[in-house]
Amino acid sequence: MKLLKALLLSSALFVSVNASDVMQKSMAVMFEGMNEIQAGFLNNQLDMIESGIKKVEEGNNLFSDKDTIVKYLPENKKHLSNVAINASQRLSVDIADLKNNLEQKAYINAANSYSDMINACAKCHSTVRSW
Ligand code: HEC
Repeated sequence: MKLLKALLLSSALFVSVNASDVMQKSMAVMFEGMNEIQAGFLNNQLDMIESGIKKVEEGNNLFSDKDTIVKYLPENKKHLSNVAINASQRLSVDIADLKNNLEQKAYINAANSYSDMINACAKCHSTVRSW
């Protein structure tokens, strides 16, 4: 567990954050949260999954309203704001599903909710980055 925490900490440092920039703050805290959730699943540590969920929730709340999202879309992607907003809403739904599945002790379903969260991250990034 000690090693695991150290690894997570070093991965958190990997993303350098300008705390005054809402996008960077949001993405850094979601990145950290997703790493914690994954580590929690792999090591069977429920408390880590729960702590990670709080972080992703916090980050997604920072980056979910239309004006904020549109501000960070490149000029040639602003017309795709709905795709980006949908990705953020999909994250909220996935977070609710993940919590619910954990409550029910439905761990395979919970892992699927986590996978869908990764897809939601990728969906918005693919729009932003023209993947
Ligand atoms: C609604 C859109 C949206 C969603 C959803 C989203 N991101 Fe991002 N993300 C962005 C934008 C915009 C950038 C900045 C542009 C770029 O890096 O291409 C970014 C960049 C990042 C970066 C690089 C940070 C930096 O400072 O450059 C990380 C890490 C990241 N996102 C993690 C995540 C994770 C993890 C998730 C899912 C839990 C997620 N993002 C979901 C829009 C989104």
